[in-house]
Amino acid sequence: MKVLLTGGAGFIGSHTCVELLSQGYDAVIADNFCNSERDVITRCEKITGKKIACYDADVADKEAVSSIFAKEKIDAVIHFAGYKSVPESVKLPVMYYRNNLDTTLTVLEVMKEFGVKIFVFSSSATVYGDKNPVPFTEDMPTSTTNPYGTTKLFIEKILTDTAAADGEMSVVLLRYFNPIGAHKSGLIGENPKGIPNNLMPYIAQVASGKREMLHVYGNDFNTPDGTGVRDYIHVEDLAKGHVKALEYAAKNAGCEIFNLGTGIGYSVLDIVKAFEKANGIKIPYVIDPRRPGDIDESRADVSKAAKILGWKAEKNLDDMCADTWNWQKNIK
Ligand code: WQD
Repeated sequence: MKVLLTGGAGFIGSHTCVELLSQGYDAVIADNFCNSERDVITRCEKITGKKIACYDADVADKEAVSSIFAKEKIDAVIHFAGYKSVPESVKLPVMYYRNNLDTTLTVLEVMKEFGVKIFVFSSSATVYGDKNPVPFTEDMPTSTTNPYGTTKLFIEKILTDTAAADGEMSVVLLRYFNPIGAHKSGLIGENPKGIPNNLMPYIAQVASGKREMLHVYGNDFNTPDGTGVRDYIHVEDLAKGHVKALEYAAKNAGCEIFNLGTGIGYSVLDIVKAFEKANGIKIPYVIDPRRPGDIDESRADVSKAAKILGWKAEKNLDDMCADTWNWQKNIK
């Protein structure tokens, strides 16, 4: 099976590409490299020993996407392409709606023209909003508190309606919790441009000396130590979850939602301590006021993916912290 990974040069996309190739699938990448480096492709080829067809393309550009489908016999799409910064989406909502919706709609239109029926979507636990009790189950009501999260919700709705309209479509919506870590080779990992929004890349840059100290956003949450609790999942486990989702979609029409998390919650200070222990590096921090929109706790109920996909996260927090540093220390 040949799989098109839109945004496949990104953090999750590149790890999924490596996992697909390692499991004998063919992968084609379409990416405009707005939030990733071109040499990621070479590093993925080095890890897998396989050539990867990569198209430098804006996935919202219908002509460009059509030409990829015309050149490559695509059997399925995993759609990663999209802007992903919560604070940036608050400042630039129209740019987020335009990009994240247009990329999706363009891919769906071209898939229809070429008769491609399998679509796996990179969604997010952010769609559970701030009103649900943890652990979150896939049938819970959704709501969002920022434009980035709302684009994910809108795209889930677009895909649900598309699958309902075309009885042969297979759509899987993957709600990621908090992906961290890096490939065990240390050749690919997370390397956000500018100041990292997310916790682990920021900690990694404090460890490398690029940042002076971690700013902990709030210690007055309703959690054991007062800092925010999240369900962190190793990016390699997440990549394996995508392959399981693809295999499920290849056998089942319709639209199905799965949480991809570990079911275990760790606080910000738990992560700091685990990183220090795994790597023997002190992470200085200061307590700052809360970030607007942050919730006390986000944690997955992971039973549906285990039961239906036969997938469960295997790596622990120590692996996530050690693999993060093994990647970060190589970054120039
Ligand atoms: C985790 C915890 C912060 C940075 C968001 C999106 C989600 C997904 C991942 C995009 C929180 C605290 C963070 C820092 C801190 N998508 N924190 N200092 O907010 O759970 O999820 O990113 O990639 O859709 O919603 O992840 O890593 O930003 O924050 O104290 O410098 O770390 O308050 O408690 P979040 P995060």
